Amino acid sequence: MKILLTGGAGFIGSHLAESLLDRRCRLVILDEFNDYYSPAVKERNLSPIADRRGLKIVRGAIGNRELLRDLFGAGKFDLIVHLAARAGVRPSLIDPLLYQEVNVGGTLALLEAAREFGVGRMVFASSSSVYGDNPDSPWKEDLTDLKPLSPYGVTKLAGEALCRIYNRSFGIKITALRFFTAYGPRQRPDMAIHKFARLIRDGKEVPVYGDGTSQRDYTFIGDIIKGVLAAIDGDLDWEAVNLGSGRRVLLSDVLEILGRLLSKPVAKKYLPDQPGDAPATWADLGKARRLLGYRPETELSRGLEEFVSWFERESLK
Ligand SMILES: NC(=O)c1ccc[n+]([C@@H]2O[C@H](COP(=O)([O-])OP(=O)(O)OC[C@H]3O[C@@H](n4cnc5c(N)ncnc54)[C@H](O)[C@@H]3O)[C@@H](O)[C@H]2O)c1
Repeated sequence: MKILLTGGAGFIGSHLAESLLDRRCRLVILDEFNDYYSPAVKERNLSPIADRRGLKIVRGAIGNRELLRDLFGAGKFDLIVHLAARAGVRPSLIDPLLYQEVNVGGTLALLEAAREFGVGRMVFASSSSVYGDNPDSPWKEDLTDLKPLSPYGVTKLAGEALCRIYNRSFGIKITALRFFTAYGPRQRPDMAIHKFARLIRDGKEVPVYGDGTSQRDYTFIGDIIKGVLAAIDGDLDWEAVNLGSGRRVLLSDVLEILGRLLSKPVAKKYLPDQPGDAPATWADLGKARRLLGYRPETELSRGLEEFVSWFERESLK
């Protein structure tokens, strides 16, 4: 199987790339190695697989239509796994136009290339952010009252809507996966768990926004990857599917576990709520179980142990 993987140098993408190469897929990674966070981190993400057979790394933007035409013209892809995006929630309130250009415009450019070159399947990285702060939790995919709280969430919802149109109008089979806070080795440095770990290690105060009762459905990267592989194998026509852990965890519990694993005290600094953030996220996994056989297995404490041992190794570099 020949796969185009966008965003393959990132956190989720680099783990997925490894699994796809293990499956002996022929893989083309398209990534622009931008500086949303250090491009050197992205190079490191790919270093364990850079020389593997069957892998080609193309450095460029998903919105570059000429590049897409060259790539798609050079040999037919069986599948696109589209992970490339501007991925931060809060920065999307600072530069919303960039988010719409990459996450909406870039996704549309890829869908157009798929249509033009007859690629029949795509897996699209969507997000729990599409649910906003809908009170009807755990969130099911058939909720219709979706009001994202950030431009980022809106771009993911728009991406899903475009995928749906390309399914209905052009018959491209697309599964949109709504990821719920992925964590584990190589987690993006701007994400909460990684940021907290740095602050705790350095003996600095950890900012806690709101009253500390915020909750997240945290999903270990290994479980996310299993879900993406199941979506690749699932060959569904059009579906949006949650990939979470199905459990809500208090922020204070995450901090307590991190402090214990890092053998450091945790000093909290309470600050007002941040705009764009949902107070709680919680995935209903019924559809993922039914359609993809998805069953997350990693308990938070074990997943954080893996994260911290990776984090400590990285800190020594
Ligand atoms: N990590 C999470 O918890 C989470 C949760 C929900 C959704 N998602 C989605 O999953 C996907 C992967 O997230 P991640 O955490 O691995 O992010 P990441 O930032 O680590 O990876 C994204 C990759 O895309 C690349 N990229 C960005 N814009 C590009 C462009 N215009 N052209 C080519 N490449 C570009 C970046 O260089 C980066 O390597 C994203 O679509 C994100 O929105 C992630």
